[in-house]
Amino acid sequence: MIFTVAIDGPAAAGKGTISRAVAQRFGFAHLDTGLLYRAVGAKGGDPVVAAQTLTPADLMRDDLRSMAAGQAASRVAVIPAVRAALTDFQRRFARQPGGAVLDGRDIGTVICPEAEVKLYVTASPEVRAHRRWLEVGGDEARVLAEVIERDARDMGRDDAPLRAAADAVVIDTSALDSDAAIGRAISIVQAAIAMDRAHGPR
Ligand code: DC
Repeated sequence: MIFTVAIDGPAAAGKGTISRAVAQRFGFAHLDTGLLYRAVGAKGGDPVVAAQTLTPADLMRDDLRSMAAGQAASRVAVIPAVRAALTDFQRRFARQPGGAVLDGRDIGTVICPEAEVKLYVTASPEVRAHRRWLEVGGDEARVLAEVIERDARDMGRDDAPLRAAADAVVIDTSALDSDAAIGRAISIVQAAIAMDRAHGPR
């Protein structure tokens, strides 16, 4: 079965938690596409060359989850040649047999507009900053400022800006706990799989 679940949204909205749970529930492969951009940002040197020569080992670095790595990723992600170098890999991953979940910023809009399910997972900047602050500590106002700065860059860039696809289902997690958000996503995917099966195998 070729079946893609595209999950987009801003930082710390809950995309990762939902994506992992959906992938596990349906036995789909999962790709956190933010990790690709984080690895490019962390590699240093010319970001285009870094993207063109990315290896699985680059994705295993243990410093990719920091706030600094997120900001660096957001900066290299505005470069069209960086995005272009990462596109084919993501597209192949999305359409692999057996089903795939990809989370990022442009999955439903650019990487896989034909995805069978598109979710846009969001929450208020304050709620997202609070969640991130619980993980990283420090000054919460500074974490909020970084979240707002990263949103502005990810939404404001010319190439593949963060936005909900016209046919995406929006899940606002501001007032949802993770079980409720996961439950909502799983029932949407379940319904789409049933519809896909009713239309015959591909
Ligand atoms: O999801 P994340 O926080 O790990 O993403 C880090 C940055 O990478 C994000 O601020 C913008 C960029 N990114 C992107 O431009 N497109 C994607 N599909 C995923 C991430």
